[in-house]
Amino acid sequence: MGKIAIFGGSFDPIHKAHIEMAQLALNDFDLKEIIFIPAYKPPHKKEQFACAKERLSMLKLAVGSLAKMSISLYEIEKKTIVYSYQTADYFQSLYPADEILLLIGGDSLAGLSSWKNIDILASKYRFIAVNRVGVKIDANTRYLDRCLFSKKRVHNMSSTQIRAMLECGNEAAADFLDSKVYAYIKEHKLYSAVSPSRQTCNDDRKLFDNIYDYLLEHLKKDRFIHSINVSKTAMELAGICKIDISKAQIAALLHDCAKYMTDKEQIEFFKNRKKFEGFDEIAKNAPQLIHGFSASVIAREIFKIKDKDILNAIANHTLGRFNMSLLEKIVFIADSISADRKCSNAKIIKKTVKSDLQKAFIAVMKNKMQYCLDNNKWICPISAAVWNYYVKNENKNNN
Ligand SMILES: [Fe+2]
Ligand SMILES: [Fe+2]
Repeated sequence: MGKIAIFGGSFDPIHKAHIEMAQLALNDFDLKEIIFIPAYKPPHKKEQFACAKERLSMLKLAVGSLAKMSISLYEIEKKTIVYSYQTADYFQSLYPADEILLLIGGDSLAGLSSWKNIDILASKYRFIAVNRVGVKIDANTRYLDRCLFSKKRVHNMSSTQIRAMLECGNEAAADFLDSKVYAYIKEHKLYSAVSPSRQTCNDDRKLFDNIYDYLLEHLKKDRFIHSINVSKTAMELAGICKIDISKAQIAALLHDCAKYMTDKEQIEFFKNRKKFEGFDEIAKNAPQLIHGFSASVIAREIFKIKDKDILNAIANHTLGRFNMSLLEKIVFIADSISADRKCSNAKIIKKTVKSDLQKAFIAVMKNKMQYCLDNNKWICPISAAVWNYYVKNENKNNN
């Protein structure tokens, strides 16, 4: 008796992490075959972006020539929602002598309980779960005893994140896709901001649309373009650092959303709100440095963003702080090296991010400090303390 894994999904689009998952499963569990089964209409997804024909074409380009991998039209040809228990039963009847397993991402385990007839499905079939980097599985999750876990993890990358990159024209999306799939997407103008799918909104889409509308309404053209550029760079860096690209996109889009206020208005803005440490000194010497903190308040109050990492990345993009997260550093760096900035060492900094994010971050801080020195500008004590903090830590690491 051999083992065959079925891998269902919308594959909208298929990306490298899908292939990585399949390859890990093949290596770890000695499978005879993995069958990719694109859904006609996935039960759990409100919306699809590419049609079934396009998703299938992309699958063929990515999987077509890979050993022990094949594609089934079983669900697509049904032209309706097909549940996993039905698909598994169908393949079990096709291969009665083999064990059929369902290949899923480890992050899907938490949602298994909502699958149709899951108890029957889990009693008959086992799952192969491939974990994503940075995603933890709750030990109390149901059906863990029905899972085989891969030894390695795959990149934390989703089709949603790739679509978000493609939509804003971020070419870094190519890094996460098979080159033939990327060429197909370009040729057929899939997932672009002008594709018809953009007209139907899900919750994320609504948030992005609201942010774009707000920025267009409040910011001058140059600042709007800068915000879009920073978001493109931040998404690219987030991809390199393998962190949540959507979070980077939101934080970067909003980082300068309070720039429409005058210095006086920035100070007024905090009158009835909790001031941050050092506020009075900054208000007296360089009130333009307050805009990151104001932007974070707008993100929280107007866009109802609760994610602390996003709010911190927005608040601290100008001055930095001790113990910054990866996301905070990425937005801080992206703000200085985006396409519209005249940063002479932008290319080197971007390259450095790939090998050493911390080094790239210090290079950006150095640029900022140098700018103040060269132009006889007041150096904010927060920036100076942050510089000392990171340089000291960097030197410690080098010794
Ligand atoms: Fe800014
Ligand atoms: Fe900025």
